[in-house]
Amino acid sequence: MLIPTGQIVEDARRRGVGAGAFNVITVEHAEAVVAGAEAAGCPVILQISENAVRFHQGRLAPIAAAARAVAELSTVAVGLHLDHVESDELFDQAAGNGFGSVMFDASRLAYAANVAATADAVRRGHASGLWVESELGEVGGKNGAHKPGVRTDPGEAAAYVSATGVDALAVAVGSSHAMTTRDARLDHELIGRLRAAVSVPLVLHGSSGVPDDELRAAVKGGLVKVNIGTALNVAFTGAIRVAMAQQADVVDPRSYLRGARDAMAETVARALRVLTE
Ligand code: G3H
Ligand code: ZN
Repeated sequence: MLIPTGQIVEDARRRGVGAGAFNVITVEHAEAVVAGAEAAGCPVILQISENAVRFHQGRLAPIAAAARAVAELSTVAVGLHLDHVESDELFDQAAGNGFGSVMFDASRLAYAANVAATADAVRRGHASGLWVESELGEVGGKNGAHKPGVRTDPGEAAAYVSATGVDALAVAVGSSHAMTTRDARLDHELIGRLRAAVSVPLVLHGSSGVPDDELRAAVKGGLVKVNIGTALNVAFTGAIRVAMAQQADVVDPRSYLRGARDAMAETVARALRVLTE
């Protein structure tokens, strides 16, 4: 069933577990994320990024409708989240397309401009019933800008949350977007200081590159929403590569997409068990 993202995150925070949020590019991603969540018996968040909307010819409605339908038919609770939104126009399409939440990403702006743009997005989002996440201290690696040294300052984070009214804060604590190896090391001392300074749930981006023990420690330390994207694509593309090598004359996409979808579902189930054990 489809439920508001904020409810999934608040429930996870109350229980002291992580809420897994997985990136959806194709309908097979949505099916795999929900199948993995059902196998693990956990609620889950489906998230569609502005980049994924760009891939779908700039149209949000078709992929959003597919993800929403998969969510509604699920036996576990599923949230629908619009991720890394920089465009005001896209932000304003969220509520009408069934999303319960949006991550408004002004992290590339200077602090004052980020605060002003985010406060405005929060006002508009709350007026439409949306739960709004935003980011302070760019998470390294986005759009190729690898910045492993970037960190969120706890004092600035506290001021930012009260100035913008955001419902959740994505923080830079050592993870990097789009890693295909799992060797990121998180700054757990900083996570503790952020947890103490900020009252809203904290969000970890770029979690594909974070090993299981680091993820467990991050959740114990106070990270709640955990965003995973690349790990699904590693599983998906890896399975297709194997299938292609085994059958060079393959034509019907179902013959290789089925295994690729199963591989993503296993990745999701495994990650959710780590976040909730
Ligand atoms: O917002 C999405 C996530 O931060 C995904 O990052 O692809 O590195 O796992 P990832
Ligand atoms: Zn992200």
